[in-house]
Amino acid sequence: MTNRKDDHIKYALKYEAPYNSFDDLELVQTSLPRYDLSEIDLSTHFAGQDWDFPFYINAMTGGSKKAGAINRKLAEVAARTGILMVTGSYSAALKNDYPDSYDFRSDFPALKLAANIGLDKSIDLGQQTVTALQPLFLQVHVNLMQELLMPEGERHFRAWKQHLKDYAQQIEVPLVLKEVGFGMDVKTIRYAKELGLETFDLSGRGGTSFAYIENSRAGKRSYLNDWGQTTVQTLLSAQELRDNTELLASGGVRHPLDIIKCLVLGAKAVGLSRTMLQLVENHSADTIVAIVNGWKEDLRLIMCALGCRTLSELKQVDYILHGKLAQTKFVKQSK
Ligand code: FNR
Repeated sequence: MTNRKDDHIKYALKYEAPYNSFDDLELVQTSLPRYDLSEIDLSTHFAGQDWDFPFYINAMTGGSKKAGAINRKLAEVAARTGILMVTGSYSAALKNDYPDSYDFRSDFPALKLAANIGLDKSIDLGQQTVTALQPLFLQVHVNLMQELLMPEGERHFRAWKQHLKDYAQQIEVPLVLKEVGFGMDVKTIRYAKELGLETFDLSGRGGTSFAYIENSRAGKRSYLNDWGQTTVQTLLSAQELRDNTELLASGGVRHPLDIIKCLVLGAKAVGLSRTMLQLVENHSADTIVAIVNGWKEDLRLIMCALGCRTLSELKQVDYILHGKLAQTKFVKQSK
């Protein structure tokens, strides 16, 4: 039997999303510059910390030999470029599946590391994760459709709300509630905010599809491959929350222009998974470090072209919606 984590890597690399919402959003540039390039400031703040850069390596893997090698390379890139890395779900290690695939930190003392676990896991497992990895924050992921499509997935969901309450009250590090590429709905964000959560990774559709991954593994239900809302749609839906909520964005982010689009829509920072996985598969650590450092320069360049010095100024940038996004009509049912 193949390892589930290796299947996820294989199918994530294979899948090319048929539609990426970033292509339907265009930023309005400025003709009259306001700042020198050297004045542009990329710093941000979320999950109780200041960060030098507004993008991070989002949760991916752990729990197999291959996953361990990927994690080690990602950690090297993150440590050498100063960007944050989030581990894949720690649940594999808690089941004693290749726990050393998460054990790379001592080799990279400068690494900024956060950890990840699923909301199907109770608070004691979350606490074990925090004890083992000492992360800067804990991402707790919600992946309902993935669990439903996964042949060996979870079938009992009533405990999730109680788990969320427990995490909100008891976990000792900052908490981030995270989707896995289906796009977090505003009702969920509002519910979690009432429990005291402040930070959300909306992770929408447009890049990795866990519906495609699980449907490919199971050999059925491909009609559900495009389940969920796109990253831009999800961010647009959450606009009313952006000034009093820490929104993080991910899902289909390919390059610095996609990052900037998320920041214009109010994200505090932007996560990349598949794009980083592709780099790790195809390039040496030295090359990836150069690419990531180039992204920092490109972010500054694009901000300069938009007449913005800081992330908060980016939130004033006008934009144009095309295609599917322009035709979108969101029908809100009362509840
Ligand atoms: C993921 N993702 C993920 N998310 C999570 O919260 N816990 C996890 O363990 C994993 N595992 C995982 C494995 C692999 C191989 C991939 C590619 C992704 C989801 C990821 O963090 C992100 O939310 C989605 O992949 C959407 O972003 P991209 O891939 O389109 O940039």
